[in-house]
Amino acid sequence: MKRLLLLLSLCFCVGASAQTDSLYKEQYRPRFHFSPSVNWCNDPNGLVYHNGKYHLFYQFNPFGNVWGHMTWAHATSKDLIHWKHLPIAIAEEKDTMIFSGTCVVDKNNTSGFGKNGQIPMVAVYTGHIENKNQSQHIAYSLDNGVSWTKYNKNPVLDLGKKDFRDPKIFWYEPKQYWVMAVMFPVEHFVQFYSSGNLKDWKHLSDFGPVGDTSGVWECPDLTQVPVEGLPGKKKWVLQTSQNASMQYFVGEFDGIRFTNENPINKIVRPDYGPDYYAAIAYNQLPVAHLPTAIGWINNWNYANDIPTAPWKGAFSLPRTMKVKKVNNEWGLIQQPVAAVKTLRTRPLEIKNHGVTGTFTLPRKSRQFEMLLTYEPSASTSGIRLATGNNSYFEIGYDAVKKTVYIDRTKTGQTDFNKNFSSLSRFETPVVLKNKKLKLNIFYDHSIAEVFVNDGEAVLTAQLFSVDTNNGIEIFSNGGRSAVIFLKLWDIKSIW
Ligand code: FRU
Repeated sequence: MKRLLLLLSLCFCVGASAQTDSLYKEQYRPRFHFSPSVNWCNDPNGLVYHNGKYHLFYQFNPFGNVWGHMTWAHATSKDLIHWKHLPIAIAEEKDTMIFSGTCVVDKNNTSGFGKNGQIPMVAVYTGHIENKNQSQHIAYSLDNGVSWTKYNKNPVLDLGKKDFRDPKIFWYEPKQYWVMAVMFPVEHFVQFYSSGNLKDWKHLSDFGPVGDTSGVWECPDLTQVPVEGLPGKKKWVLQTSQNASMQYFVGEFDGIRFTNENPINKIVRPDYGPDYYAAIAYNQLPVAHLPTAIGWINNWNYANDIPTAPWKGAFSLPRTMKVKKVNNEWGLIQQPVAAVKTLRTRPLEIKNHGVTGTFTLPRKSRQFEMLLTYEPSASTSGIRLATGNNSYFEIGYDAVKKTVYIDRTKTGQTDFNKNFSSLSRFETPVVLKNKKLKLNIFYDHSIAEVFVNDGEAVLTAQLFSVDTNNGIEIFSNGGRSAVIFLKLWDIKSIW
C-alpha cells in the first residue's frame, strides 16, 4: 500500500513537477536534452510514432535516484524536441521488474487486443526476476499509450534462462509477420524470432558472437536505413550495446537472417565517446521520415554515482540514420533531427580567422550549438568549452594521429567514481576533407555531443563542471589553425 501511494505521488511528480521553479534549472541539468524531472532513468524503450506523436518510454526507478524497481516511464513529443511527461506506463509487479523492450502499433489487430475499433499499442519487454529468470512479456494499451494492461498469459517467450533480454520488435512487410531481435547477453549473440500475433514466437536465426565481445551484449536494434546518395536504396543496420559501448553492423535482412557485409574483424561504433548506450530506433515513422534513434547518455561503469540530483540520466538528441559506402565499407551517418534548429537563438558568426595559441570567443554559454569548419594545425587544435578556473572540456584534432578526440581530464568534478576519472579521453580516426575538419557541437551543461564531418562519426560525453565555467575558446598548438567558418547559437531550454 505504501508503495502504491508512493507510486501515485511519483506519477504526479514525473508528470507535473516540471512546472515548479527550480526544476530543470539545477546544476548540471541538461536544458535541451530529455531527462526525467526526478529519479533515475536508463535505456530508452518502446520508441514508436502514433497519431502525430513520438512516444518515449524509458527505464525508470519510481522509488529513487539509483537503478532499481525497473518500470517503464513515459513521455510524448510532437517534434522530438519538446516533451510532455505522462504517468508511469508499465509498473514493476511483485518480483518482476519491467526491463527494456519496444512498442508497436498493431494496426491490423493481429494480437486481438483491439476492442471496438480501437487500435492497440503493444509493448514487448523483458520480465526480470533477479538472479533467476528473464523472459519476454507483452502488455497493451487501448488509449494511445497512457494506460497499459499486462497480458494474462505472460511470458510469451521463456527459455528458462537467467540472461535473455531486450526484445526489439518490428513489422516485416514482405513476410507479413512481426520480427523480434532479442539478446543472449552472456553468449554475445542476437536471436531472431517471428510471430503473426505477438504472442506465439518462432525461432528464425542467430547472429554473433562477432566484433566487440568485451562486455555483455544488450539492447539489439535492427532498422532499415537509406543509403546516402542512392535514392530508394536501403540497407539494414544492426546495433548492439555491449557494456559499456555500442557497435553496429550493416548488411541485409531477408526476414529470417541478418548478414553482415562489413569486414568481420573491424569494430565500428555509432558513438566513440563514453556516454552513448542502449540506443534503439523509432518504429512506424511516417514514410518520408528518416530512421531516428535515441540513446541513453550515461555509462554503467559509473552511472549510479554521477553527481546529479534529483534526477540521474538523460537521452541523446534524436539522431537520423543513413549509411554510406566508403572504401568498400558501410558507415553510419548520423545527424541530430532538424527540429533542433528551432531552438537556435542569438547567432554569432566568425569567418576566416587565424588562431595561434588560444582565441577566446566573445560569448559565454553553457547551452549552445556550434558549427565549426577549420584547417587544423600540425599538432593538436580545436575547441575548449566550459572554460574557467583552469577547468575545460576539450574537443580536438590530433594531426599526428589523425584522430578527433574529446578529453574531460581537466573538466570539473571527476572524483565521484574512479572509473569516471579513468575513462576521460576518447578518440576515433577521421579523414580531413580538403585539409578541413567540420564539427557540429551541442553543449548542454553536463552533456557534449560532437558530430564530425556531417555525421560520419559522433562522440558523446558527460562533464560535470560548475555554472561559472562558461567560456569558449579555440586553441591551436604547434602553429596556426585557420577557422574558415564558425557559427554559434545559444540553444533555448525545452522545459
Ligand atoms: C541496458 C540494460 C538492459 C536491461 C536494462 C535494465 O542498459 O542493462 O539490458 O533491460 O538495462 O534496466
